Amino acid sequence: MFDNIFQGKIYKNLFNGEWVTSRNTIDIFSPVNNDLVGKIPSMSLSEVNVVIANSKISQKKWADMPVSSRASILHKCASLLDENIDFLSSIMQKEIAKDRHSCNAEIKRTADFIRFTADAGKQLEGETLGADNFPGFKKNKISFVTKVPVGVVLAISPFNYPINLSASKIAPALISGNSVVFKPSTQGAISALHLACIFHEAGVPPGVLNTITGKGSDIGDYLVTHKDINFINFTGSTKVGKHIAVIAGMVPMLMELGGKDAAIILSDADIDIAACDIVSGAFSYSGQRCTAVKRVLVIDDIADRLIEKLIKNIRLLKVGLPQDDCQITPLIDNKAADYVQELIDDAINLGATLLCGNKRCNNLIYPTLFDNVTAKMRIAWEEPFGPVLPIIRVKDIDEAINIANSSQYGLQSCVYTKNIDNAFNIASRLDVGTVQINNKPERGPDHFPFSGTKSSGMGTQGIKYSIDAMTRLKSTVLNINP
Ligand code: NAP
Ligand code: G3H
Repeated sequence: MFDNIFQGKIYKNLFNGEWVTSRNTIDIFSPVNNDLVGKIPSMSLSEVNVVIANSKISQKKWADMPVSSRASILHKCASLLDENIDFLSSIMQKEIAKDRHSCNAEIKRTADFIRFTADAGKQLEGETLGADNFPGFKKNKISFVTKVPVGVVLAISPFNYPINLSASKIAPALISGNSVVFKPSTQGAISALHLACIFHEAGVPPGVLNTITGKGSDIGDYLVTHKDINFINFTGSTKVGKHIAVIAGMVPMLMELGGKDAAIILSDADIDIAACDIVSGAFSYSGQRCTAVKRVLVIDDIADRLIEKLIKNIRLLKVGLPQDDCQITPLIDNKAADYVQELIDDAINLGATLLCGNKRCNNLIYPTLFDNVTAKMRIAWEEPFGPVLPIIRVKDIDEAINIANSSQYGLQSCVYTKNIDNAFNIASRLDVGTVQINNKPERGPDHFPFSGTKSSGMGTQGIKYSIDAMTRLKSTVLNINP
């Protein structure tokens, strides 16, 4: 099935139902061993322009297709994903150094996401409104409110979930009758092109899904300011997200950005459960998850007991290669590892207590845990996107909430306690998109609303919410003559 998408080591883009090359390419090296995984096209601005024009034309016919037919294509796509889990997983392991178990789970979850989206799309309904309940109006006016596609959706995805965070934009956009211009992250693009191939093989018509590869720094600004892009669905760093929001102008957008999710541990928490969740929450895929636990705020009287258990759990983590099911694998590149190391060094210099870790082998960083982190240290506030976890001791709930809310981010937070009143009080005071009670932060299940406050994003994802965002209400008013 995937034979058409590459020639030798050179991958191609999907354009109007064909696989095409560009004059220039970008080498994609594996973060695992620096081997060349493949070369992807580095598209020129004029090629980008031709692609968007094609997406615009192709959208009309797709929107006219019955939603049940669009749903059947998405169901086929989900089945093809399920059938190709092992192959796709092996590509992801090489390209983004994610462990085998997590790659398999990501692909399976994506197939389920697409199926659920196909079925949710069939529930797309409008409404009719009478006018006579508004002062001064009679019964002779009715508004027929329907949901229509926004047009051409630009989907931009990050490296860390090249299948799931791509499909979670593409599938809701497609079921709603939009066409999609899909720009995956450069590292991760080879996995993403395989996903595009699956949509194509499932029967998505020519031009309804087109892919664009090339460095965001070269073509990104052109893409997001293009006059024929009607919606931007972006997941990535806060820095790039804010830049897009500034330059894109009056285009609706969904933004999923960075996070600094806090785990708040009260004195009556079940420490065994909390410690186990925190370690998997902070360190799975080496901390390269937007929803990773990125700081622990623990009431002082229980901190020592928690730390003892955290260290025990960290010692159980396997460090090494993705294919060996290690949870701690090399970071996406050396630049990412240098940044994490900077945060570690800063914490040490400012007097944090290093409990374990601070060991590095190129881009592989061992799980690192700090106690006695203070507000002066960068690790208290910055998103490492790597395997380092700061513990901040607090005297009470108010201090925990105050520190949690002082972050520029507001993605998720979690609170561990047996007291349901405290849990709900804290949840209501935390300025984040989601609060988890007695569980680590996490996105799924993928039909739940997923959003961030402040620098963590805008708009809400989640199957029904993503469909709502990428459709608009259209009102047709019938005026009945007496
Ligand atoms: P990134 O560097 O911001 O890149 C994200 C995407 O934006 C990539 O496709 C990138 O392309 C593209 N891009 C770069 N510059 C652009 C521009 N000027 N215009 C348009 N697109 C541009 O993020 P990342 O390193 O891939 O992902 C890690 C970040 O994403 C973390 O901060 C993480 O918290 C966040 N994230 C958030 C969520 C969430 O749901 N809130 C989920 C996952 C990740 P290139 O690859 O070609 O540069
Ligand atoms: O990186 C961001 C992902 O959306 C997080 O998803 O909580 O299932 O790992 P997850």
